[in-house]
Amino acid sequence: MTALEDYLRQLDTLAAEATSAFQSATTPEQLEEARVAYLGARQGKLKAIQKGMGQLERADRPEAGKKLNEVKRRIESAFQAAKEALGTAAAAPATRTRFDPTLPGDRPRLGHVHPITQTIEVLKEIMGRLGFSVAEGPEIEDEWHNFEALNIPAAHPARDPLENFYLATAERQADGPLLLRSQTSTVQIRVMEATPPPVRIISLGRVYRPDTADATHYPLFHQMEGLLVDRHVTMADLKSVLRMFATSYLGEDVHVRFRPSFFPFTEPSVEADFWWNDEWVEFGGAGMVDPHVLQAVGYDPEAVSGFAFGLGVERLCMRRHQITDIREFYRNDVRFLRQF
Ligand code: DAH
Repeated sequence: MTALEDYLRQLDTLAAEATSAFQSATTPEQLEEARVAYLGARQGKLKAIQKGMGQLERADRPEAGKKLNEVKRRIESAFQAAKEALGTAAAAPATRTRFDPTLPGDRPRLGHVHPITQTIEVLKEIMGRLGFSVAEGPEIEDEWHNFEALNIPAAHPARDPLENFYLATAERQADGPLLLRSQTSTVQIRVMEATPPPVRIISLGRVYRPDTADATHYPLFHQMEGLLVDRHVTMADLKSVLRMFATSYLGEDVHVRFRPSFFPFTEPSVEADFWWNDEWVEFGGAGMVDPHVLQAVGYDPEAVSGFAFGLGVERLCMRRHQITDIREFYRNDVRFLRQF
């Protein structure tokens, strides 16, 4: 091979190399690096070959020079093309990587129902089978429904502003203060005011108390309220309903224990414990509806009687799923929520 042929060959090789270097650049920085490497005015590879032209026979130099100019134009236009491709790719990133239809797709991550909402659905279903229909009430309440009609007098400590979330709505002052309901027992009153006996309802929803959050307390939580009013209702009915409920929800033959307690709206009142996983666990309060409450809603306590109960939904869900910290429900951490 003559020196000229060798020289021309070098130029072709350089053009091919430079073109492929420009095409494989994926960022403007990489492209600029490649440009300097091949077209750089001082250290560029093309410059180096150009300098080598002096080694050729004088007669060969015109042809070599012509080829050199042609290769230079080729490299420059390869650079321009790569630059434009990168520009459009940056503007529309989706086009940068080629679509490969043979790759498995990205599985979209579906959200799902929050564990508390799931629990509520299960509780509704179980109580529905026992003949209880679902009633709803507002979360912003007046003192009549949250306290007064439930036989909780003005001086009762449960009405202390420090124990409740009272609202500072001046325009409602005429009807008395409003508050975020502290219990779902409010719905008992609303249902009985709106319907004559018999009633057989549950109500599930949020309640609010200014408690400091810890493993077992949270300023917002959920309750399941139950109310049954009819002729000749007794505590035996209450106990068997709670036992059937507990057995259905906890999945065993759960025992129910009543411990004497006090609630202003029930007489007698009890704390309801379930025997489960070898221990007694308190799930809420219950009792026979106090005659004062029946009177407040216009029912005749001589004609009808009833029972009521209020259970903590978080507590039920936590027991069933071995969750030990109520705050987990409200941290919004999908790593926790995804487990249910
Ligand atoms: N409302 C009560 C509370 O929040 C729970 C409760 C107790 C509800 C007894 C009832 C009941 O219906 O009969 O602590």
